[in-house]
Amino acid sequence: MRPKLVVGNWKMHGSRQQVTQLLEGLKQGNEGLSKDVAVAVAPSHLHVGLANELLTGSQIALGAQDLHPGEEGAFTGAVSAPMLADYGVSYVIVGHSERRQFFAETDAVVAEKFLAAQEHGLRPILCIGESLMQREQGLSEQIVLSQLDAIVAAAGVQAFRDAVIAYEPIWAIGTGQTATPTEAQQVHWILRDHLAELDAAVASGVQLLYGGSVKSANSGKLFREPDIDGALVGGASLKAEEFLAICKSADF
Ligand code: PGA
Repeated sequence: MRPKLVVGNWKMHGSRQQVTQLLEGLKQGNEGLSKDVAVAVAPSHLHVGLANELLTGSQIALGAQDLHPGEEGAFTGAVSAPMLADYGVSYVIVGHSERRQFFAETDAVVAEKFLAAQEHGLRPILCIGESLMQREQGLSEQIVLSQLDAIVAAAGVQAFRDAVIAYEPIWAIGTGQTATPTEAQQVHWILRDHLAELDAAVASGVQLLYGGSVKSANSGKLFREPDIDGALVGGASLKAEEFLAICKSADF
């Protein structure tokens, strides 16, 4: 069985005090969790340094929510992969639908970020997912496969030996409306099957997370589906108790 991975995406939330409290709570509660469940949190770039200090010696990994594809240069406001690596970041989210929607990120940009992350030893978490309108038009499969193929074309299927994919239907993000375990499993199976046509070993090893209104009330059922290897959690990752309950539900 593939190990489970639960990642908290804190988005644009948190003060120094809130970050400290949340991480102290997570560190305490995480201790009893089995080694088969990996846990990571992705605070804002501003809080990465603080989180790195607070997480020293803990099992919780540090993630970031985005990166610039370049190494350094005149890109006001941007943060690069080497900067993140320097602060102990090991995972970085790329292609989140909010980046695609509000920051006009195309598949080509997402591919550059994916490559830059891997080049500097960061594990990309590639987000893909269809909108409600696309789902209603029966285009879900086509959309997620084209988003995946854009990265496979740029990086090669072998790149997925050390990458994570998060299926996040846009209609389920922050809406309280989760895909049912069966709906999510169906898309996850399609993704894994698609990768298997290119490389069976990569397909069977790659971790496929589900994201979109995951909470402790629905996570256990999602995690029991054969192709769901964990979750990318937004809102519910901002409360230590709730996030820990989600992590614990992956431990079976
Ligand atoms: P949500 O966000 O859990 O608040 O729906 C998930 C995400 O955007 O990664």
